[in-house]
Amino acid sequence: MKINERLKKIGNLVPANSFCLDIGCDHALLDIYLVKQNKNIKAIASDIKEGPLQQALLNIKKEKLEDKIELRLGNGLDTYSPNIDTVIISGMGGRSIIGILKNNLRIAKKIDTLILSPNNYLEDVRRFCCKIGFYIADEELVKDKKFIYQIIVLKKGHKKYHKKDYFFGPILLEKKSNLFYEYYTRELKTREILMQILPKNYYLKRLQTKKEIKLLRNNLRT
Ligand SMILES: C[S@@+](CC[C@H](N)C(=O)[O-])C[C@H]1O[C@@H](n2cnc3c(N)ncnc32)[C@H](O)[C@@H]1O
Repeated sequence: MKINERLKKIGNLVPANSFCLDIGCDHALLDIYLVKQNKNIKAIASDIKEGPLQQALLNIKKEKLEDKIELRLGNGLDTYSPNIDTVIISGMGGRSIIGILKNNLRIAKKIDTLILSPNNYLEDVRRFCCKIGFYIADEELVKDKKFIYQIIVLKKGHKKYHKKDYFFGPILLEKKSNLFYEYYTRELKTREILMQILPKNYYLKRLQTKKEIKLLRNNLRT
């Protein structure tokens, strides 16, 4: 079954021998990829809607993996059960991801590894996860068609971060790959355009955008 580069990259970040819960699995293509790797991974694919789970079931049956992937219907971490050590949430907005963790904070704090790939509000997601007891263990950028996505791997524990770590991602900032420059140059351009169209009385938004432009310019210098 064909899987895109983004999901493949997420799958490759899942530790061997893990027991995963994929929240918002949709078609379950990631879970199929995971259990087909020779990494002894067990997967539960869950979704809040029945439609995606029906498609997931068809895909799982096509691959004859019914005994390897369990399907669960439910909201966020409601589908969690003890022994799950890795939770994946990808392809959702950052605020939805924070909401899912916040709604079941007691369970969220039990997770060993969180693998997140939010579509937006990445700084907020990093801040929130670090506030509830995770540190950033790994980060990747992946280009799929014309979009660039971030993937954040968090583990239980604490580390001290600064504003720019939350903003860029501490590991992405350290690696400064070519994709890093491409991703954050786009972010800079978006903010420069925003600065031109934001009305003068949007005082706080202008102030924040101005600060981010400065941060981006300073860190995009080679
Ligand atoms: C855009 S798809 C992402 C699919 C896949 N994870 C990916 O990265 O390609 C988002 C999926 O999340 C599901 N979803 C949204 N909110 C959810 C929640 N609170 N709990 C479980 N699933 C949720 C939606 O029904 C949808 O199938």
